[in-house]
Amino acid sequence: MKKAQNSIGIFDSGLGGLTILKEIRRAMPRENIIYFGDSAHVPYGSKSKETVSQFSLDIAKFLESKKVKLILVACNTASALALSTLQKHISVPILGVITPGAKAATKTKTKNIFVIGTRATIKSGAYAKEIKKIDAKANIKQIACPLFVPLIEEDLADDKITNLVIKKYLSEVKKFGPCTLILGCTHYPVIKKNIAKFLPKAVLVDSAKEITKEAKLLLEKENLLNKTGKGKIELFVSDSPKNFAELAKRILGFNIKAKEIRFYI
Ligand code: DGL
Repeated sequence: MKKAQNSIGIFDSGLGGLTILKEIRRAMPRENIIYFGDSAHVPYGSKSKETVSQFSLDIAKFLESKKVKLILVACNTASALALSTLQKHISVPILGVITPGAKAATKTKTKNIFVIGTRATIKSGAYAKEIKKIDAKANIKQIACPLFVPLIEEDLADDKITNLVIKKYLSEVKKFGPCTLILGCTHYPVIKKNIAKFLPKAVLVDSAKEITKEAKLLLEKENLLNKTGKGKIELFVSDSPKNFAELAKRILGFNIKAKEIRFYI
């Protein structure tokens, strides 16, 4: 039986999902969290559905073995390509980032919605499909931004090269004026301020905030919110724990140790 003290499992291809961990921590500070960053295989955004589904399934099984009460797929690429596979094979409730982000985008004032994400997320059209289910009249444009993830993973968010790349990818959005822009990759909140500065007229939808709201509602509904304790965080990665912990500190704002788990052949 699931208990409120059981952890929330969160995973991503790398660091990006830490933006979700941070938001979960802010909204539900008593929750125990187990995070898995697949640092051996980042980026997912250039890989096939089959590969991303296999990696995601292995990680979800690992989290399931840790008796988590909920799994958050803190990766848009994995949510777009692997969520249905996970829901078929894993018995723990699973939330992805696409549906909460799409819902939030349709609640903004404009019907002009841009989606930015990895190549795989954009190619899947997952956001466009979800948005159309809610608002058939929405005008949706999608832009793949494959250079953002390596810039963030290389800790270059504050470097001028990142602003040049933002200009290169998002000038079309700037010309458009007022619109909604979905940050369709969990790495992107790390450069949210830079994007907001370049696009002052756009409303930015941040998947981390939206999935956190859904997760809280679900746990409340199931009576699984942890009401006692301090909330412990365990961080697992599939490669280079030291590098990961250093970058994680910048995103989270506190020191954290990463343990290495290699369960791939
Ligand atoms: N953070 C992942 C996402 O939300 C992408 C990074 C990657 O390509 O692995 O899509």
